[in-house]
Order: sequence, then C-alpha cells, then structure tokens
Amino acid sequence: MVKDLIIKNRSCRGYDESYTFTEEQLKNYVDGARLVASTVNLQPLKYFIAWKKEDVDKVQCRIRWARQLPQMTLPHPGMCPTGFVVICQDTNISDNLARFMKDVGIAAQSILLMAVEEGLGGCMIGSFRPDEIAEGLGLADNLHPLLVVALGKPAETIVLTDVGEDGNTAYYRDENDVHYVPKRSLEELVING
Ligand SMILES: Cc1cc2nc3c(=O)[nH]c(=O)nc-3n(C[C@H](O)[C@H](O)[C@H](O)COP(=O)(O)O)c2cc1C
Repeated sequence: MVKDLIIKNRSCRGYDESYTFTEEQLKNYVDGARLVASTVNLQPLKYFIAWKKEDVDKVQCRIRWARQLPQMTLPHPGMCPTGFVVICQDTNISDNLARFMKDVGIAAQSILLMAVEEGLGGCMIGSFRPDEIAEGLGLADNLHPLLVVALGKPAETIVLTDVGEDGNTAYYRDENDVHYVPKRSLEELVING
C-alpha cells in the first residue's frame, strides 16, 4: 500500500556505504519523476544523477544535514548516502523559480517512494548553496539546483512519535542514536472533522 511506503519513507541520515547504485537505477527514478504532475505541464525540472563515487562526494561535501541537531555530525563517518539526484530547474524553460517549488516536492517524494519500495531510502536536502552545487558539478548556466535527494541503504533506526503538549516538533536522538520524529495528530490537522 502507498500509505505503508509513506510511513516507511523517513528522512534517513545514516546509510550502509557498501551498497552502491547503478546509473540505470537512478535513471529509473527520474523516469518515474518525469511522469508526475507539473504546473501547466511545463516540466522545467532536469536531474543530475550521482552514482559514481567522485560525483557523490562532490554533492555530499556541499550539503548540510540535520540542522536541528547542531551538536552532531550527521551522517556519522562511514555512513554517507551512496547516490544523489539533484533536481534542477531549467531556466531556459522558465526562470520563475518560485512557481515550480511544488513540482519539485512532487518529484522528490516520487523518487523517494520508488527507492523505499526497493528497500532503500533517502532524505530531501534543501540546505545548500545552489551556486556551489552548480559549480561543483559543472552544470550549465541554465540549470539551477533546487533540491537534492540523497539516496542509499538505510542503516539507522527512525521512530515516529506524537507531538507532545508543548507543541515541539523538533526531531531528536537518544543515547543509542535512535532518531525520533514527532508528527502532529490527525485531529490537529483536519480542520473540519
Ligand atoms: C523540502 C525539504 C528540505 C529538507 N532539507 C533538509 C536538509 O537540508 N537537511 C536535512 O538533514 N534534512 C532536510 N529535510 C528533512 C526534514 O528534516 C525531515 O523531513 C523532517 O525532519 C521530518 O522527518 P521525516 O521526513 O522522516 O518525516 C528536508 C525536508 C524537506 C521536505
């Protein structure tokens, strides 16, 4: 069921580095993403896929993880993702970056659900400087990085919890490195039910 995949699809920040992706695997994710809904069907998104170690490293050193846990370095050493899809907007198709932010989310979630279905996982990463990513990957001037999707074989425990009475939604870890993600209740979210 899609809902089961959604529940399993947690933002993972620790991976088994012995697992590597093929070009075909990442291309297959993009093949799914290219078929999703798009504002006025303009489809301005283009995708840089990183599966070779040299490209993976170029992305990994330019992104920031888990800003809510500033005391930790995540991923832990030796637990980095082994693939990335960098979602870019082709400004030759449209240079209105704000207009296609929803398209980006739909594409990224679709990629992640495909990965989760294969027993893999990932994390959306919005914390990076687009110019640094573009320069590091040697992207053409018309390709503006909007969102990075990290991918790999998850190697950490993530637990969903309920947001407490204090309303704090910050994720946290315990002494065993178990990662907890508070979610608001259904009752809080449904406005009229
Ligand atoms: C658009 C977007 C950008 C994100 N950027 C980052 C990021 O830069 N670094 C990071 O570690 N996590 C990032 N996340 C992951 C969120 O922190 C994560 O979704 C949140 O903690 C809830 O966890 P969950 O995805 O397992 O439900 C991002 C998520 C979204 C939707």
